[in-house]
Amino acid sequence: MGIATTTERKGLGKSERRDAWWVGPLATALALGAFGVYATFRAVYATDFELGHGARFHTQLPDHAYLLSPFFSPLIVLPWLPAWISPAFLILWAPGGFRLTCYYYRKAYYRAFFLDPPGCAVGEPRGRRYQGERRLFLFQNLHRFFLYLALAFLVVLSIDVVHACCWPTPDGGWRFGISIGTLVLAANTACLGLYTFGCHSLRHLVGGNVDCYSCVAFGHTRHRLWKGVSALNKHHMRWAWVSLFTVGFADFYVWLVAAGTIADWRIL
Ligand code: FES
Repeated sequence: MGIATTTERKGLGKSERRDAWWVGPLATALALGAFGVYATFRAVYATDFELGHGARFHTQLPDHAYLLSPFFSPLIVLPWLPAWISPAFLILWAPGGFRLTCYYYRKAYYRAFFLDPPGCAVGEPRGRRYQGERRLFLFQNLHRFFLYLALAFLVVLSIDVVHACCWPTPDGGWRFGISIGTLVLAANTACLGLYTFGCHSLRHLVGGNVDCYSCVAFGHTRHRLWKGVSALNKHHMRWAWVSLFTVGFADFYVWLVAAGTIADWRIL
């Protein structure tokens, strides 16, 4: 408490800390900034985001399973929309809102972009007093609703992995197969699941507001779910970053394959 008061008086970035406290906020700003630029570019560019347009399962591609970038899934194509409105814009607001309102990311970008404060026991901009998340920031309370959407997206992305496992056969049927692309989509969906299932809101949803698990309906199940979510929640920051990387990489991989830059190796 004493340190915080001292640094407040000294001004922005002033601190008695001797460690490199600025590395975290700087790395966060660079990583989130780079991801934001890449995702915006891909959404606007909106090309080569799927392998086998409209193929779904084995209907059109003769020799490869269908691959769809997670940035465009579920693929919503509305013929009456102007061409400049990318299908990505119709869906990215949901996972974007989920991350924007995430308890961990809030801490990260408040520090990295607003410097409010830049770190523990580090001086804030002069004249700025803590007022909590008020006014515009009240939208952060929507996190639980974004969670419901994120859970639905996990189902959609899991279906995409199933599509990526259905390879066409010469007789017009299909058989199970796996390529590097299948593994990339599956790994991304798994990492997004580990991030989503460690959500603080989900933890409260399954186990909160209960004083005695054995006294409520499904108490045993709720307790087990709460313990599972709590275990993941301990590593929420890690899965937030890993899943951010995998979702960007999955899009990049599908882009390269769909553009013909690289071949997607079938391994099974
Ligand atoms: S708190 Fe991070 S996803 Fe919900």
